[in-house]
This record gives sequence, structure tokens and C-alpha cells, in this order.
Amino acid sequence: MKQHDVAIIAGDGIGPEVTTEAFKVVRAAASRFGFEVRENYLPLGTNHYLETGEIFPDARFEEVKQHDAIYLGAIGDPRVPVGLIEFGIIAKLRFELDLYVNLRPVKLYDARLCPLKDKTPDDIDMLIVRENTEGAYSGMFGHAHKGQALEVATQTMVYTREGCERVIRYSFELAKLHGRKRVTLVDKANAVRAQDIWTRTFAIVAADYPDIETDHAYVDAACMWMIKNPEWFDVIVTTNLFGDIITDLGASLQGGMGIAASGNINPGKVSLFEPIHGSAPKHAGKGTASPVAAIMAGSMMLDYLGEKEAAEAIEKSIISLITQNRIRGVRTGEHGTAEVGDMVVEQIAQYAPA
Ligand code: IPM
Ligand code: MG
Repeated sequence: MKQHDVAIIAGDGIGPEVTTEAFKVVRAAASRFGFEVRENYLPLGTNHYLETGEIFPDARFEEVKQHDAIYLGAIGDPRVPVGLIEFGIIAKLRFELDLYVNLRPVKLYDARLCPLKDKTPDDIDMLIVRENTEGAYSGMFGHAHKGQALEVATQTMVYTREGCERVIRYSFELAKLHGRKRVTLVDKANAVRAQDIWTRTFAIVAADYPDIETDHAYVDAACMWMIKNPEWFDVIVTTNLFGDIITDLGASLQGGMGIAASGNINPGKVSLFEPIHGSAPKHAGKGTASPVAAIMAGSMMLDYLGEKEAAEAIEKSIISLITQNRIRGVRTGEHGTAEVGDMVVEQIAQYAPA
């Protein structure tokens, strides 16, 4: 039997609750489709830090790298300084494993989940590819005269030719693989002139894909078009910071943080899957958070591990539960967290491929 080793960081806040449901579903899919997922839970996150002073020890990091994939629930906790755990765990994994693609599908499963009027699942179905290792997240920042009237703060956005090229190429390959017709570059090269490197690199890579249309939008306009005409977007490729921003907007179009999932990918290498939502500390421990985003991150993980049928079965099960109104919504409190996981498990057991 095929076996996949997964390192699981359930993390902070609602992370553990939604991760429990995600793996309930992963196990159901594994038994239905005949493979095994070995779950290795790692005690990392704010509680672990507060108890031990450890954020992500080197030995742990080496251990994580030995898996086929990594699954992350959520991190972030107001008891510790902003960014400490985020950068110590998620940013460390993204940078040190060189997970240069952040793939965030935005797909509306049912019109009632969409805050826009008159938009249907036909209108909202895009794949957003966020560059995940450079730009404003490169860590090149500093302060001079800190705390004084003369204080200066700078943070440099870094774009390398290789960094742009590989993520743009991934986007065209993704379009090809999924039969998508257009790739849109989203940047702000009119004001952030350094992003001209994106414009030029995009043109060079696009020339290798004559069957795929290209398009361009400045990020401010892209925000407007995503609301007015989301149907225009198919595959989007963009910088790290703009990708962070427009994928929250994208998540809202599909029903909110309770449904949106992502993959942090270095193709062919150990990659990381997570719901886009954060740890939502005020909802933690209540068993009312939507696990759909976490379950969909599990589906993306299985797809990446080559378990295409299982991944599709999970997504189709969720779609069917939503369209039948058995999952009424994906907002906190709409259902019990475990109730949703149980429904998906039951649906997978009955799943018959079309
Ligand atoms: C995300 C998050 C992270 C980011 C935070 C937690 C650092 O917002 O994955 O979108 O900005 O990348
Ligand atoms: Mg974000």
C-alpha cells in the first residue's frame, strides 16, 4: 500500500480543532482509495513556546524535512509579540524549504456563499499564484534612531530574475495542466518601478506558451475587477505582498476564511498545506470554527502527493454538501466543527466517481 508521511503542526487557536477534522477526512479518503497517511504531530506553536522557550529547534526542522508533506493548522497568539511565531514557523518553512509558490484557488461552490449579488459558480473560479519567498517578505528591514523623533524605518522589496521566472513559469504550467485559457500578471509597476522586472520576465516566459492568453492588471485595478468582474480572472500570478492581500479578497468571494485553502509549494519537493485563515484566538476551543478550509487544505495536500482521486472526492463531497445545503455556511458558529467533519467523512464513504 502506498504510504505518505506527513508532519502536522496543528498550531495555535482554532488550529488544533480544524486540523482534527481535516485528518479525520484524510483518513476516510485514504481508506476509501487504498493508501496510508502516517501522521506525525509536532508540538510547535505558541503554547509550546510558552512552556519551553522553543520556537522551531534545528533538530525539529531537520525532522520535518524528512516528510513527504507538511500540514499546518494555524499559528498566531496575542500572548506573544506580533510576528514572533509567524516568522519562526511559517516564514521559516517558506524560506528555508524554498516554497516559492503559494497556490490559492478561489472557487465559488454555491452562489449563496458569495457576498456579491448575481455572481454564480460560473463567474468565480480562479487560481491565484502568489510568489512566496521574495518581495516585501525578504526580511530586509531596519530602523535607525529607534524611538526618537528622527527615527527612520525601511523595508526593501526584493525581486530576483530567477524568483520571478520560476513562479511565472509555474503559473503557465498550471494553466496548461488545468486547461485554463489566460494568465494575468498583477503588479504595480507603474509606481513600484522595480516591478518592471515582473513585466519583462512575464513577457519572456509567456512567449513559450503561445496557446495561453496573457493579461495584466495593476493591483489597485485588480481589486476593483475582482469585485466587479471576477469572471475575467482565470490564473493570476503576483508578488508576495499583493498576493497576500488579493487572496484575502479572493477568499471573501468564495465565502470567506472558513473555506479558503492554500499550498506552499516547491514542485517535487516537500511542500506545506494550510487553510488561509489564522488562529482566530477568540473562537478557540469552542468547537464552532468552520473546518472546511482546513479540509480543503487536506485535499490540496493529497492532490500534491499524487492521490488525485482522493483529493477530488474530498472536494466533490464538500461541494455536494454545500449545494444540498447540508453545510449551510462556512462562518464560525454555523455548525459544530466536528459535525462538518463527520458529514464529509460520511459523504466520502458513499462517494462514487462520475
Ligand atoms: C498568509 C498570512 C501570513 C502572510 C502571515 C501570518 C505572516 O497572512 O499566509 O497569508 O502574510 O503571508
Ligand atoms: Mg494573508
